Amino acid sequence: MAIPLEEDETTEARLEPEPAEERRILLTVKDVERTFQAGGSPLHVLKGIHMELKERQLVMLKGRSGSGKTTLLNCLGGLDTPSKGEIMFNGLPFNSMSDNQRTIIRRQHMGFIFQAFALMPLLSARENVELSLRMAGVPRAQWKDRVAQCLELVGLERRMNHRPFELSGGEQQRVAIAKAIAHKPMLLLADEPTGELDSGMSAQIMAVFQNIIRTEQVTICMTTHDPTILEVADHVYEMVDGKFI
Ligand SMILES: Nc1ncnc2c1ncn2[C@@H]1O[C@H](COP(=O)(O)OP(=O)(O)O)[C@@H](O)[C@H]1O
Ligand SMILES: [Mg+2]
Repeated sequence: MAIPLEEDETTEARLEPEPAEERRILLTVKDVERTFQAGGSPLHVLKGIHMELKERQLVMLKGRSGSGKTTLLNCLGGLDTPSKGEIMFNGLPFNSMSDNQRTIIRRQHMGFIFQAFALMPLLSARENVELSLRMAGVPRAQWKDRVAQCLELVGLERRMNHRPFELSGGEQQRVAIAKAIAHKPMLLLADEPTGELDSGMSAQIMAVFQNIIRTEQVTICMTTHDPTILEVADHVYEMVDGKFI
């Protein structure tokens, strides 16, 4: 299976390491709380979260099941809104925008990857990636080249015409990555993207993530509880019961 990483490793060796402090802050989370009204009593799921994502960082959220990782990721992506606190995305007050404004920002500047691969089963890899360009309003004339470029980035250019069921779990997840980055988002949010994959496939996904941070200048925030995966993070936030420790 061809994964185009060898070439990039030599490129990386020639580049000067970039001082982390010169990276711009892309997202700031200040004192975010999220309370759900479940039945009678309120359920406090996020209890005062502070965090920061800088450009081109790979940041991970770890924590036990039920600790609030998905709830936080949903707030970062505007799929949910905090009950209290502030989220600034690219200098804009993300949490206090209207739903419409937030949707526009999300479609243009964010990409999402979930544990279960979220591909359209009847569409080929190419058509799945095209779908996200269509959703983002990218002119049709640009689709062909961009789709090819994205599938090449994830090492699947030769699987372009395969449908999800003809691909392995790891390959499906790589199509999902191609789909999530096709419209050139600034921020990629991934909820346990390796959760259903074995360690070999998980390592491939992480190599792809590192590759797209360099080539696409994207920032990635993902959840995981796999200790071997945590090793490649620029920063790890550990969540316990709705707070970072
Ligand atoms: N929409 C919701 N309504 C009520 N409770 C919720 C909702 N979403 C999440 N929860 C609760 O919030 C807690 C944290 O969930 P979640 O963020 O999914 O944790 P994690 O992703 O770390 O496993 C859980 O107790 C869950 O049941
Ligand atoms: Mg979760």
